[in-house]
Parts: sequence; C-alpha cells; structure tokens
Amino acid sequence: MTLMKDHSNSQQPVGIFDSGVGGLSVLRAIQKLLPHENLLYLGDQAHIPYGPRLKAKIRAFAFEITSFLLEQGAKLIVVACNTASAAALVELRQYFPEIPFVGMEPAVKPAAETTQTGKVGVLATPTTFSGDLYASVVERFAKNVMILQDTCPGLVESIEAGEMQGGETRQILEKALDPMLAEGIDTIVMGCTHYPFVIPLIQSITGPGVRIIDPAPAIARQTRRLLDHHHILNLEQIPGKVRYFTTGEIDKFSKLLTVLLGQTGPVEKVFWREILKLGDDLSTHPG
Ligand code: DGL
Repeated sequence: MTLMKDHSNSQQPVGIFDSGVGGLSVLRAIQKLLPHENLLYLGDQAHIPYGPRLKAKIRAFAFEITSFLLEQGAKLIVVACNTASAAALVELRQYFPEIPFVGMEPAVKPAAETTQTGKVGVLATPTTFSGDLYASVVERFAKNVMILQDTCPGLVESIEAGEMQGGETRQILEKALDPMLAEGIDTIVMGCTHYPFVIPLIQSITGPGVRIIDPAPAIARQTRRLLDHHHILNLEQIPGKVRYFTTGEIDKFSKLLTVLLGQTGPVEKVFWREILKLGDDLSTHPG
C-alpha cells in the first residue's frame, strides 16, 4: 500500500520526524530556506527520549513513522533526529529505495575544519555516539582533532518540559561544558536536534569565544538539493502549509510550538495503533 503511492508530485509535502520537538529546529531552517514547501512534522512524544533506547526499538519506530508519513503523501523524508538516523537511516534507504531521505550526523567535519585549538566538544545522545555514522565521521574528518563528548542526561527532557533558561537545565549544561572548557575547546557541535533551542544558554556558559554549530541550515540546504535533484521542488509561489502530528499530548506540543517557534498551528494526535495498522506490510523490515 505505502509503496504504491505516487511520491513524485512537487506539491506533496516534505515529511519530517523526531522523537519530540527537537526536529522543529530543523523544520525552522527548512521553512526559512524553502517557504513554499508543504510540510508534515511528527514528534513521537509517546516514546521520548529515544537516546537511551535499544537501536532495534528506535529503528522499528522510525520505520513505522516513515510509513505513516508516506501514507500522508510525503515526497521526501527528513529524519530530523540524530538518534533515529544513527539507528535506522541506512536501513530506511534500503527498504524505501524510491524515497529520498535526508538524515543527520553530528557536524564534526565543519568543526574539525575551523577549530583553532584543535579541541571540539560534541553533545549528543548515547545511541548517536555508539553508532557507525558517528564513528565514520570522526574517523574521516577528525583524526587530528581532540573530541570531547557528553550525553547531557536529562537535557532532552528539560527541553520537552519547556525549560530553556535556567535551573536544572543550566546545571546539566554546566556539568557537560565545564570540563570541556577547562580542556580548551573552541567549538561545540549540536549533535541532537533538541539542543539548538538552548544555544543562548550554552553561549552564556561558554562565553562568546566558543563557536556553536547547529547543523539545521545545512540540513535544509541538503533537502533543497535532493528535491531539486529529483525534480520535486515546489515551485508554486504561495506559502507552504504545515501539518503537525504528535503521538503524545496535543496541548503539550502546541505550547512548545509557541515557545520554540512562535507559531501556532493545528496539532493532530496520532495514535500508535493507527501507525502500526499502516505498518502491517513492514513486518519483515530489518528492525
Ligand atoms: N532529537 C533527538 C536527536 O537529534 C534525540 C532526542 C531523544 O533522545 O529522544 O538525537
């Protein structure tokens, strides 16, 4: 069923997903660069956080969500989650060969190219750090750079709770950043799509001398490149529409949408049992 649909119509939406509201940092960049694209966004808040979960479980979620977004007519999928990309991107591309995917990996390359001290901090989830994608970017681009990593336990939950400013969120960040700063890092990579929402707080801890890399604009450019390559860029000169879905609570998602993006939008609840029904034909997927 899913695979029978036509995904080549330029007015069809771009599907974007994350474990929660983190991928909105990517959606924001896509809206800025591609204001005429129609978008679908799904936050799997019923299962957040993904970071500490088993890879096979995350992969199963990613397959079901992709299937749901394709069923809604998505022409391209942006996996706006480093963790889901680490767990599932290779398999998604294999299973849905006709669908273009944009995935995420920590932006170690630009960090390694520009660091002056030769020391770079990376903030990401445990699954992202333990994946082959991350190992491969470090191996390829950061051989001569010292990388300091931290998983910032609790930070995703704080952001999902709308706590972007102080208190516990600051404590989590100080615990991660103080040792990195003491070591002499001059660059920090946001290896989780939730973290760009606390960049002002991070910068207040690091001071202005540390460069913070948010990969979202590069992901938006890659989305444009792929749409263009497949001749499915929406060339209509009218503002694109967005449909937001959450597997969690509508109210919670709506409030965060306002806090994080200053947007209001109808938010639709999607139940996992509906997603699973659509995914029946995925029972043999490599998850
Ligand atoms: N936003 C996700 C990422 O980019 C992770 C959040 C989570 O642990 O669920 O990795």
